[in-house]
Order: sequence, then structure tokens, then C-alpha cells
Amino acid sequence: MCGIVGYVGSSEALPILATGLKNLEYRGYDSAGIALADGDGIEVHKQAGEIDDLELPSNSPETIGVGHTRWSTHGEPTDANAHPHVDCTGDVAVVHNGIIENYATLRDELERSGHEFTSETDTEVVPHLVEEELEGGASLPEAVEAVVERLHGSYALGVVTPEYDGIVATRRGSPLVVGHGDTGNFIASDVTAFLEHTRRVSYIEDGDIAYVTADDVVVEQDGQRVERAVETVEWEAEAAEKGGYEHYMLKEIHEQPTALRQAISGRLDELHGDVDLDIELPEEYLQSLEEIQIVACGTSYHAGMVAAQLFEEHASVRTSVEIASEYEFQGGRDPWRTLVVAVTQSGETADTLSALRKANRSGARTLAVTNTVGSTATREADHTLYIRAGPEIGVAATKTFASQVATLTLLSVYLGRHRSELGSSRASDVLASVRNLPGAVQQALDAESQVLEVAETYVDSDAFFFIGRELGYPVALEGALKLKEISYDHAEGFAAGELKHGPLALVTPNTPTLAVLTEGTRSKETLNNVKEVESRGSPVVGCSSLEDGGLLDAAFDVPEIGVMEPLVANVYLQLFAYHVANLKGRPIDKPRNLAKSVTVE
Ligand code: F6R
Repeated sequence: MCGIVGYVGSSEALPILATGLKNLEYRGYDSAGIALADGDGIEVHKQAGEIDDLELPSNSPETIGVGHTRWSTHGEPTDANAHPHVDCTGDVAVVHNGIIENYATLRDELERSGHEFTSETDTEVVPHLVEEELEGGASLPEAVEAVVERLHGSYALGVVTPEYDGIVATRRGSPLVVGHGDTGNFIASDVTAFLEHTRRVSYIEDGDIAYVTADDVVVEQDGQRVERAVETVEWEAEAAEKGGYEHYMLKEIHEQPTALRQAISGRLDELHGDVDLDIELPEEYLQSLEEIQIVACGTSYHAGMVAAQLFEEHASVRTSVEIASEYEFQGGRDPWRTLVVAVTQSGETADTLSALRKANRSGARTLAVTNTVGSTATREADHTLYIRAGPEIGVAATKTFASQVATLTLLSVYLGRHRSELGSSRASDVLASVRNLPGAVQQALDAESQVLEVAETYVDSDAFFFIGRELGYPVALEGALKLKEISYDHAEGFAAGELKHGPLALVTPNTPTLAVLTEGTRSKETLNNVKEVESRGSPVVGCSSLEDGGLLDAAFDVPEIGVMEPLVANVYLQLFAYHVANLKGRPIDKPRNLAKSVTVE
């Protein structure tokens, strides 16, 4: 995990780096630091704790610097382990995102030749290795080129020294973008770090070394100059700010109607029951497809569970969904007739990338379904389908889940139509449901005060259970994940029919159950399970499109829009999780122990 940022130009680097780090805070927030370079030396400010607590001078004339926000892997969050790390002379400063796997061997070697280390991190070997190269007469670009040859693992690195009038940056396996501004240039883990200064970016590829100075960016691969296209990011900087909401998570929950409209815009042909997804899967391959394997983690895995049911139903293709870190099938029974779909909003989740690589190696065709343009998943998969949710900053995924499910639903129609398994009239019904989704989600958002009241009633419960069937089951799992992530309460999701096989023993009058009772969830049968918990004294809150909500203690009204109804139920569960956590005063956008982009396996 971790985020890096760098600036070189004609403006003061310090405020630019400090804001950049704040925008990258979602990548980690247990320590932060900045190194500023000028002709005389390097000035480092770093400490454990959040970026807001980082003590910085009120101003500083330096115009070159790098910054880092940390999510610890090697070494606890202490001042010493915070980045940037420097060498023995204090003249080489390095920020790093990733893991140097062979750091122990390198550290031994460096210590034997007299280098003294001040941290427990894997990163600290890098400035010392650079120092050795510089002492041997290399320039900074030559030194970095030699050092990366010796590193195993994953990294995005930014390196500064007093002698070099810029930043040397490189990546392997961790994200790195370059921003091209009017008054200078940037490096960062993510464009949000510098979006308020420039929207012109180029994506650095594995093995590239970028030499970034105030008025030029040169990229080399294997010592040869290469061109990396300058692209324009469509997101406005304000889209990444809180826009008046108390938390990013709440803002992003409320952005779902817009995110969904973006996801489906230009893609629906309801009249002909067809979709235009701009993915070129060969017709012959689609016809002969025998198996789809979805690989994903966490919330994206839950979106994958919804998709698996829809792929089976609409496209008649056997579909499994695998937790990416458990993925071992390596491309299916017949890789040539298998499609592996990696669902990852960030496109950088290490477990998902590792599964994607296994699938690629096996010869299966791969498709990344992601929110992040230029992310590693898009580079490594054969095809990419964007969910177009816009930036999501809150650590708990909300609008990206909705956009994933909507986009994957369109993919199910695409597959069904190309395989002639889905008739145009049924396809039109599904598409009408998707088209009605943004409005239905808005209705759920408009009922937020009711959700707050229910949250107030149950905030002090011992535990919370979520139940659903079919498409309601992944929504129940997602509802529980959201609540546990941000409220730290015990919350569990169950397939409703499973309750009586064990979990019912946990049910008491102080453990409310939230039930998904909509189209696509076999709600009549779920109502039987509702009765099972009610008769054990548990209060039941339904997210329901049923006319008669039965014995429910509270019901959130889901408009009748067909197959997409469970996604509206999910919005109620997001709001419920948010308000329970907020009533408890939890740090909602930055839950303990978590970070948004999990780039370690
Ligand atoms: C939970 C959450 C995580 C992510 C998971 C995968 O709110 O956000 O469970 O869904 O870490 O992340 P991506 O989708 O970026 O691969």
C-alpha cells in the first residue's frame, strides 16, 4: 500500500506535496513524510501519525521534493520507519510503494560494507544502494538504473538528491503516473495527488525509468528512450473533494445515481435488447465459451457473486467466482474456452493481479472490470471494461460496488445476446431495470432520515445479521462487510436458508437481522427465515419491495424495478452502516487497520 508524490517546477514544492499527500491519504495513513531538495542538501520532515499531524515548516523555498503516506508492511508505524528514507550521507532521499522482497539479503551486504540503518523497513536499502553507485561515480539516473536491477519484489520509487535537478522515478508492479503541469511536473501513485494542478498524465509502465525535471519528462526502458502517451484525465479535481458532506463515504453513497448513469450512458439499446460495451471479444470465441471464472476480493468479490448468477442465467455459461487470493484453477478446465474476469475497482489489488497473471499464463482470455484508467489490471488483461464510477476516496467501497454490478449486468446481457441464449424481450426487461436503477437509488437516498432513525434504534446492539437468497445473498454479505468495516461491530451475512443450520444459535433480542426481500431474492422463502429469527426475539429490518412486509419491525421501501432491486436494498444497507458508525463517532473514511488500495498479497 502507501502513496507517493513528487513535484519539480517553479513553485514551492512543500504546499504542493502536502496537499498531494492529503489526496493520497486513502492509500494509507499511519505515517507521512516529505523530503525537499536544493543544491545544498536534503531536508526531511517525517513522523508517525496522520498527515494532518505532520509538522512542517510554514514555508520553504525549495522547488523539488517527494512525499509519502504510509500503510505499514515492514516495521511498525514509527517516526524512524516513516518515509522518505535517506542514505548515510543524508543526501539521497527515497519514497517507495511496494515491497522489496530481497531486502534482508541486500541489507546484510550493505551493513557488512559499513552502511548504518535507522529503520526496520525494506525501503531503506534503496537509498544506501543508490549511495554506493553515486560514490562509484554514477549520476543519479545511472545509479537508479543500476539499483533496480538488484531489487526483487514490487515498487514505485521516487528518488531525489541535491545534485540532480529533478526526480528519478521508476516502477515494477506498483502504480506510478507522471503529471505534466504548466509550472512543473509531478509523479504520484494516483492522479488524485496532483489533479488540481494538471489533468495531463502519462502512465509509467513496469521497468520504465522516468527522469522528471521542471520542464521535461524523459522515460527510458532498458536504456532506450520510449514515449508514453500524454492523456487527459476527465475527472475534475472537485470530484475528489467532500463537496459539503461530512465524510467521503456519505458523499459517495449519494453520488450513486450519477455514477450509475455514467456507467450505463451510451451502452443501452433497450429497443433491440442489446448493449454496446466496446469490448472486442471474437464472435467465435463467445460461441465456444464454456466457462467463466470471476476473480476478485472483498466488495468486488460480492459484485462478482451477483455477476456469476447473471452470467449463468443470461448467457448459459458455467460461472464460478473465486476469492482472488485463493485462486488456483489457473485458467479453467479448457483455458481456450475460458474467460477470466478480474473485478477490481482500483485495478491494483495485488491478490487480484496475481490471479489475473495466473490466468494469463494459462492461456485463458482475460477481462479486467475496473474503475481506474491506466491501472495495472488494464495493462495486463486482454480486454478492459470500465465501470466509470468516478473517483472513490472513502476506504469502504460504495458507489464502485453499484457501478460494478450495473456494468457486470450489462456484460451478462452482452454475453447472453452474442451466445443467442438471451431473447431480445427478456434482455429489454433487464436493460429497463438497469435504466430505472439511478431513479430507484435516488428514492432510497431520499429516505435517509428513516434509515437514521432505525440506526439510532439499534446502534447499541450486540451484533447484526444480514440475510438474503440468490442475488440477495451477496448483498447480505456486502451489508455485513460495510457495517463491520466502519462501525467495528460484529456483523455477519448469511444465505437466509443457512440460518437454521447453525447461526440461529447466535440470535437474541439484541441482535437485529436485516433481510433483503426484493425481486431476484426468493423473498417469499426468505420471509420464512424472517419468522425463524423473529420467533427467537430478534428484531427484523427489511429492505423490501413486497406489498406486505409481514412481521417486519421496520421496512425500507425498494421501488419495483425488477432484477436490479437488490442493488437498491444495498444502498439502504450502506446508509445503515454509515449511520451506525457515525453515531459511534468512528473515523468513517479511514477505518482502523485498512487502506483503500491493497497492493500487497
Ligand atoms: C471494502 C473494500 C474492499 C475492496 C477490496 C478489493 O469496502 O473496499 O473489500 O473491495 O480490497 O479492492 P479492488 O476492488 O480495488 O480490487
